[in-house]
Amino acid sequence: MTASSRSPLPDAIAARFRTEFGAAPCRRFFAPGRINLVGAHLDYNGGSVLPMAVDRGIYLAIAPRDDGLLRLRSLDQGLAVDIEAADIGERTRPELGWAGYPLGVWQGFRQATGMARGCDMVFAGDLPMASGLSSSAALEVVTAIALDALHGTRLERQQLALLAHRAETGFVGVRCGIMDQFASALGRAGQVLLLHCAGPRWEHVPFDPTACEVLVLDTKKPRTLAKSGFNERVAQCATAHELLRTHARDLPHLALYSAADLEQVRSAMDQVTFRRARHVITEMERTRAGVVALRQHDYATLGRQLDASHESTRVDYEVSCDELDVITGAARGCEGVFGARLTGAGFGGCGIALVRPGQAEVVARTVGDAYRARFGFDAGFDVLRIGSGPGELDR
Ligand code: GLA
Repeated sequence: MTASSRSPLPDAIAARFRTEFGAAPCRRFFAPGRINLVGAHLDYNGGSVLPMAVDRGIYLAIAPRDDGLLRLRSLDQGLAVDIEAADIGERTRPELGWAGYPLGVWQGFRQATGMARGCDMVFAGDLPMASGLSSSAALEVVTAIALDALHGTRLERQQLALLAHRAETGFVGVRCGIMDQFASALGRAGQVLLLHCAGPRWEHVPFDPTACEVLVLDTKKPRTLAKSGFNERVAQCATAHELLRTHARDLPHLALYSAADLEQVRSAMDQVTFRRARHVITEMERTRAGVVALRQHDYATLGRQLDASHESTRVDYEVSCDELDVITGAARGCEGVFGARLTGAGFGGCGIALVRPGQAEVVARTVGDAYRARFGFDAGFDVLRIGSGPGELDR
């Protein structure tokens, strides 16, 4: 796998596994993080999204135990958790910290398959944590694929994605859509995922790395309000959907309505609800246009959809912030940039820019200077490539 060939982490987790748990042999797995090219906040509205699984993510060294004890360690997090299966419960608790994600998956896996063996696990990641690149989904998906392989249950990738998603919504309690877990679980070399979240249905669309690169623009601004603001947007969209159902027509998801439907109910909606719905409905058009452009290798047109998406998330959806506006705006002003927008939920974290190959370094320097001049601290820059998806590392 590409992920393992470049990273020192597979060796590092194996070494830590030996020092923590003794000489017992372990197996090692990887699941990627993602960026989303276009389709912001559409997954929980039954819309279409266009994520790409990247060559960074979460690594796991794991071995089963004969009893019901689970021991979880991380190279990145100080907290170590030892817990009996019987004590895991139905919801995470503050003292479980990061371990709530894999424990939620373990619990869901047990409920789905009846398997209840404990295990020893060491995790490590090379994604910036909590910055909008889906480190939590990668943590869930790597646990799901590892448990599946260890127990020989041969679940389909989408079942593993759903298991991971239920851990996040049910066990951890974040009302996210399915995009992140599906992007990680269904990631494929050289392809981005076109995921129609109503269904779900999906297909893969080629992305040409010789024509376009993805530069990550990390604002280094913690995602303040990410959880409360996110859940508030979910609720506002539910309100908009309800109004459209009663005053226009009865469709199962907000993303399926047209601009004409929305215009029809405009007078029944307050301004904020109207703008949230307008983002969702117009973002669907941008995703459709982005996919057509991608299939034609027209990265300039794809880039324009990213620019327009950013503007809509800023004005109508209000999930951007000064740092994201400045960093994407500076990128947009550079030669060789096709387009730029925030990625993930927003509220801080990372943006992305689509850049002509060979230009990323100059763009990063130019944007970095502008960003430092404005905010007095450094942003981070990184070219992320499409990874080869999740799986077991060579034994
Ligand atoms: C977060 C959520 C996703 C999705 C994005 C916004 O990453 O976890 O489900 O809603 O925000 O597109």
